Amino acid sequence: MKKKLVVFTGAGMSAESGVKTFRGADGLWENHRIEEVATPEAWKANPELVSRFYSERRKQIIECSPNEAHRIIALLENSYEVLVITQNIDDLHERAGSSNVLHLHGNIRLAKSSGPNQETTYYPIDGWELSHHDKCPEGYRLRPHVVWFGEDVPMYSQALQLVQEAEIFVVIGTSLLVYPAAGLIHYLNPDCDAYLVDPNAHELDVPRRFTCLVATAVEGMKKLREILTS
Ligand SMILES: NC(=O)c1ccc[n+]([C@@H]2O[C@H](COP(=O)([O-])OP(=O)(O)OC[C@H]3O[C@@H](n4cnc5c(N)ncnc54)[C@H](O)[C@@H]3O)[C@@H](O)[C@H]2O)c1
Repeated sequence: MKKKLVVFTGAGMSAESGVKTFRGADGLWENHRIEEVATPEAWKANPELVSRFYSERRKQIIECSPNEAHRIIALLENSYEVLVITQNIDDLHERAGSSNVLHLHGNIRLAKSSGPNQETTYYPIDGWELSHHDKCPEGYRLRPHVVWFGEDVPMYSQALQLVQEAEIFVVIGTSLLVYPAAGLIHYLNPDCDAYLVDPNAHELDVPRRFTCLVATAVEGMKKLREILTS
């Protein structure tokens, strides 16, 4: 039986594909304050701005391609049972060929109802644009399928179970500042081998059991592929 390899990724995973990470040095996400575009309050106050912001992110993501690190993770399926838990709302893991991807914070290529029962149906968005005028069949406004700050994370318990079952756990490109996602790294089985790949690995708050690779996702995954497949 193949060993269970759980990969936990954040915005840094897609940086070498050309997708900007979350907060720049100025504390802004693509020139916007987080509260302006990534909260339920923002959606209530200005759905047009929020829809436009995510449409622009979607356009950018559609124009990007998976990088070599995404592809290495997909290829590791030849040797391992690979389960990806991503905080990313892009679909680059899937496009690289990964078969098991759990999106903790949603998937920007999908829309959902802004009414009750949001998590029952997801609607694929054709192209990049979702207008704030678009409605679901029940007549509610469609919103991007992303988890905003202050909202529950419906996939959390499923992710936690995967983390607890991991035999090898690899964290890539996350500042580990966004909760509850960041807390997942504390639920590993005592026998699990843990790795962290991040250019700022030494500054990140991870338990001492983690082997840190101070490297970008691509450089780090090339090294880790050697370790995991030798
Ligand atoms: N691609 C996306 O889907 C995307 C992009 C931006 C933000 N987000 C959302 O914002 C939240 C941000 O939290 P986060 O912790 O994921 O991101 P973050 O921006 O807070 O942290 C990014 C991390 O990536 C590292 N990094 C930078 N360049 C890298 C590279 N080339 N290779 C590897 N690592 C690199 C940084 O050192 C940092 O630790 C997420 O929950 C996510 O939903 C998603």
